[in-house]
Amino acid sequence: MKKSALIIGDSGGLGAALGLSVGSRPEWHVDGLSRSRDGLDLCDETALAEAADARAGVEYDLIFIATGILGTAAFDPEKSFKQLSASAMRDVFAANTIGPALAIKHFAPLLARDRRSVFTALSARVGSIGDNRLGGWMSYRASKSALNQIMHCAAIEFARSRKHAIFACLHPGTVETSLSQKYARGRFTASPMDAAQSLLTVCENLSPCDNGGFFDYTGAPIPW
Ligand SMILES: NC(=O)c1ccc[n+]([C@@H]2O[C@H](COP(=O)([O-])OP(=O)(O)OC[C@H]3O[C@@H](n4cnc5c(N)ncnc54)[C@H](OP(=O)(O)O)[C@@H]3O)[C@@H](O)[C@H]2O)c1
Repeated sequence: MKKSALIIGDSGGLGAALGLSVGSRPEWHVDGLSRSRDGLDLCDETALAEAADARAGVEYDLIFIATGILGTAAFDPEKSFKQLSASAMRDVFAANTIGPALAIKHFAPLLARDRRSVFTALSARVGSIGDNRLGGWMSYRASKSALNQIMHCAAIEFARSRKHAIFACLHPGTVETSLSQKYARGRFTASPMDAAQSLLTVCENLSPCDNGGFFDYTGAPIPW
């Protein structure tokens, strides 16, 4: 029997590469969902519920949340508190924290019950409070810190009903996508395809003791 993967946000730079990478492995079947192609806005709980209901009975071995924003056409990440805007901060939290939390609510129950499964969300190293030496990007950083907390809660809660499930927050590196292009100043660590391969290797190597953790694309733990 083939393993099943669901990539949520497979229209994005990393999400598309993850879909292609998993799909190139003959033992996997890949399902993808996106806002631009399927109308799956993570801030729309009805759409999430309908997409999950349409998959009732599927038992996923891997669910990957690959969505997120850093800025939009309307705002850039803050360099200082002078630039902080409540509405921009709300938008970032809606996309990076509340949306993924709702996705966990509706899709984590589709993880396989009787075998190993992995549920990951793309976080970011800048969401680490322990690693923050530069400041700035308050909304993005805080939205990812909060996402990490939510994923950790999911790890604890779903351990009761999905004993073999592993939840992990992953930092992909600085990857050449539309999200990072404006801000990376050429300091990319990987192409989307290379990053996707690394992230999938991390997923394959996660063990039960990693449940609820935060890791980079090499599998190294990142401080909270
Ligand atoms: N690229 C990097 O260097 C880097 C570094 C650290 C962390 N990350 C994280 O990696 C993740 C993916 O980033 P990326 O670089 O692949 O960015 P990207 O190419 O801009 O893709 C972003 C994806 O998020 C989706 N999305 C945004 N808001 C959404 C919403 N409300 N509902 C549903 N989908 C939504 C977009 O969907 P549509 O296009 O279909 O609208 C798109 O698929 C993000 O969480 C980001 O924070 C990236």
